[in-house]
Amino acid sequence: MSEISRIALLTSGGDAPGMNAAVRAVVRSADAKGIETVAVSNGYQGMIENNMRVMDAREVSGILHLGGTILGTARSEEFMEPEGRAKAAENLKAHGVQAIVVIGGDGSLTGGQKLAEEHDLRVIGVPGTIDNDLSGTDFTIGFDTAVNTAMEAIDKIRDTASSHHRTFFVEVMGRHAGWLALYAGISTGATAALIPERQDSIDVVRERVLESFRMKKRFCIVVVAEGEHLGGAQQVADLVKNGAGTEDLDIRVANLGHMQRGGSPSMRDRVLGARLGDAAVQALVDGKSGVMVGERYHQIVHTPFGRLKTTERNADMFDLAEMMDKLAR
Ligand code: F6P
Repeated sequence: MSEISRIALLTSGGDAPGMNAAVRAVVRSADAKGIETVAVSNGYQGMIENNMRVMDAREVSGILHLGGTILGTARSEEFMEPEGRAKAAENLKAHGVQAIVVIGGDGSLTGGQKLAEEHDLRVIGVPGTIDNDLSGTDFTIGFDTAVNTAMEAIDKIRDTASSHHRTFFVEVMGRHAGWLALYAGISTGATAALIPERQDSIDVVRERVLESFRMKKRFCIVVVAEGEHLGGAQQVADLVKNGAGTEDLDIRVANLGHMQRGGSPSMRDRVLGARLGDAAVQALVDGKSGVMVGERYHQIVHTPFGRLKTTERNADMFDLAEMMDKLAR
């Protein structure tokens, strides 16, 4: 195993609060170990365009509390092709880089793995996504802040819903994963949370809404993950309204959208970012490659990129949903 003297660092895919904490930790941890960090701007696209430079460890001062990512990020089509990755590798080698630390979601980490395999580089992944859809870590960086943002927004919606005795369908992010919807729903006492991992029935949803008003609740909130199979919040609202017994329902729809991705990171995301950023550099020093660093039960764990699918944690999600539904009745 060759010694590492220079690493490339990038953030990739959708940004997530706490990415800056991870960037800061990688740069500082590397510096403490005598390793230089080459910062890549705008994800893999920046790598292809040779948009990278050696970063001074002092440059990461004052970024811990900032949302977004100071490195910039992108979803690169070009990097999906072998030619794009070859260009990226050529640029990395010209900068004397032996290893990469990539902060992002599943697709970003898998991309890093391909690059490493094809071009004799080493790679470590750091889970950064508001979706929380990676196994090998209890939580991904950004999830906690995003859920808190959604929770605060839904609390506000509940105030007005309650005054007007209305039903709100609130759409939260999560193309393939219902973590945000579940946690936002549980933390706000929603009547239901509709998630992509479950085959929800519109008749059951409608009945639950009607039942909540029969029970004299002053409002009803249904959280809908954007990847819900019945459709987004607007479609679900329309489907509910188009059924029997809904004449008196006063329905509104709210889509929380990209506000969930922004904002100053929570304490949890700052600490997680710091810890995993440092663990990523340590993993490289220890000779590891092709793994994501994560935190499970407060311990740092390393999971091979091939095992990052979330299916193993789906059972927990169903239990949570079940619990929440019971609480709402
Ligand atoms: O992966 C994070 C995420 O915020 C998803 O929840 C969402 O579906 C997607 O990114 C949105 O991507 P974009 O910002 O490219 O529209």
